[in-house]
Amino acid sequence: MQTSLQLSTQQVHIWIADLAQPAELAGRLEQMLCPDERRRAARWCSEAKRRRFVVSHAALRIVLGHHLQKEANEVEISLSEAGKPYLADSSGVSFNMSHSHELAVIAVTRDRNVGIDIEYVTPQPRVLWALRPYLSADEVVLLSMTPPGERNRRMLGYWVAREAVFKAFGRGGSWLPDSCSVPLEDESACTWRGLLSAEGANRLVRPIHVDDAYVGALAIEGSEPSDIAYFRWPPESGYNFGMR
Ligand SMILES: CC(C)(COP(=O)(O)OP(=O)(O)OC[C@H]1O[C@@H](n2cnc3c(N)ncnc32)[C@H](O)[C@@H]1OP(=O)(O)O)[C@@H](O)C(=O)NCCC(=O)NCCS
Repeated sequence: MQTSLQLSTQQVHIWIADLAQPAELAGRLEQMLCPDERRRAARWCSEAKRRRFVVSHAALRIVLGHHLQKEANEVEISLSEAGKPYLADSSGVSFNMSHSHELAVIAVTRDRNVGIDIEYVTPQPRVLWALRPYLSADEVVLLSMTPPGERNRRMLGYWVAREAVFKAFGRGGSWLPDSCSVPLEDESACTWRGLLSAEGANRLVRPIHVDDAYVGALAIEGSEPSDIAYFRWPPESGYNFGMR
């Protein structure tokens, strides 16, 4: 595993966290959470959802602690008015997290807004068609040309691009849903797409591949980062509480 603590603005680290961890480990990880996170965890009636919440938030703290050179439970995460978690310190480290089913993804960079979103590709097309009103006319046409077996994945791909943009920049004046669709030919190449911004700011979104069973997208402010690196959590060598 590569361990670069000093991120530049040109780097984005994407951590893919496996939330399917044994109860014993989840119990230990819960000790890292702040009181508010523990209260939120306790609200879940489903044991699986509670475990996923605990593991994702502990993984987030471990990853941020790794970059900040702090213990996971010392990382102070604030919430914006819109509910977006951020670091209120002077480190410049910015991040965003998304979780779906048994995976969480955490994007970390420096000095610029970032948003990430993943979705488990569900086999329930009727649920997915509820997303249709949010798609642009072009996307609806492209979906109708897509073989039935691939439609769910493509529709969710359009959805996660919007969610990643929303999570990076909020709803603001420059929120243009139609501008999020990634051209069909670019999907597998994972190329960046520029978004129109009323303020003239440069905003980018691209698909990311984290796992065959999921779709994902990353949105970022500014120019194309030169380096996107992927990491797994827990590391293949096994989980070490003293990771940092
Ligand atoms: C907040 C929101 C973006 C979360 O998205 P989601 O797909 O439900 O869930 P994800 O797993 O991807 O993201 C959840 C994480 O995002 C982060 N988050 C929460 N609010 C956020 C916000 N306003 N901005 C960015 N990140 C946020 C948190 O880390 C959260 O984790 P937690 O709930 O365990 O604390 C979503 O609920 C929402 O309100 N979306 C707006 C709907 C919309 O208008 N979408 C645009 C398409 S038309």
